[in-house]
Amino acid sequence: MKIKTKNLSLRTAEKDDKDLQNLFESYEQLKYMSERRLHKNLSEEEVIFRIELSDELVGETRIKDIKWFNRKAELSIMILPEFQNKGFAGEAIERIIDYAFHTMNLHRLEAEVIKANKPSSRLVEKFGFKLEGTLREAKYVNGNYDDILVYGLLKPEWTALQNKGCKK
Ligand SMILES: CC(C)(COP(=O)(O)OP(=O)(O)OC[C@H]1O[C@@H](n2cnc3c(N)ncnc32)[C@H](O)[C@@H]1OP(=O)(O)O)[C@@H](O)C(=O)NCCC(=O)NCCS
Repeated sequence: MKIKTKNLSLRTAEKDDKDLQNLFESYEQLKYMSERRLHKNLSEEEVIFRIELSDELVGETRIKDIKWFNRKAELSIMILPEFQNKGFAGEAIERIIDYAFHTMNLHRLEAEVIKANKPSSRLVEKFGFKLEGTLREAKYVNGNYDDILVYGLLKPEWTALQNKGCKK
């Protein structure tokens, strides 16, 4: 499946997509990604999208840990450093949130952000995610433990934001 945004194509990918696996091995910055992603121990309950710009791979986003009975899932995204700060994460995530709520009919999306990762917090807050709690010292990075911030967004909140025509 391919979803088009203004500049990007979001194309569903396989769990063993070699290009995506290579990215995680090549980029130091991606150590902030989840343990499961880094260790390739992927669950079946997820939808993965390659984020492409004119057919070039610039990142990936996934709807993961889908709980079909509770209609909730976790959202994650990464954009390669050389393509960051161009608005691509925002462009992709807006469409993926919409896909999760309106195509997959989920009720709740969660996002976990390492406290030190300011761009990620800014990104999810910009799209209406509310800070719900802190998992203290839950992420081990470079010899230190960092807190994980847990965010949530409900479908009615998203719909209200869309109806208002603003995402902040
Ligand atoms: C988080 C990430 C996806 C953002 O990607 P991006 O394409 O650069 O984001 P955008 O250009 O769409 O910017 C989104 C918002 O974050 C803000 N932002 C970007 N870099 C920032 C920084 N260093 N500090 C604070 N805010 C920042 C932008 O200003 C923008 O907000 P604005 O529209 O109000 O100005 C990217 O930094 C990344 O892939 N990081 C590594 C992987 C990761 O940590 N993923 C999150 C785990 S779920």
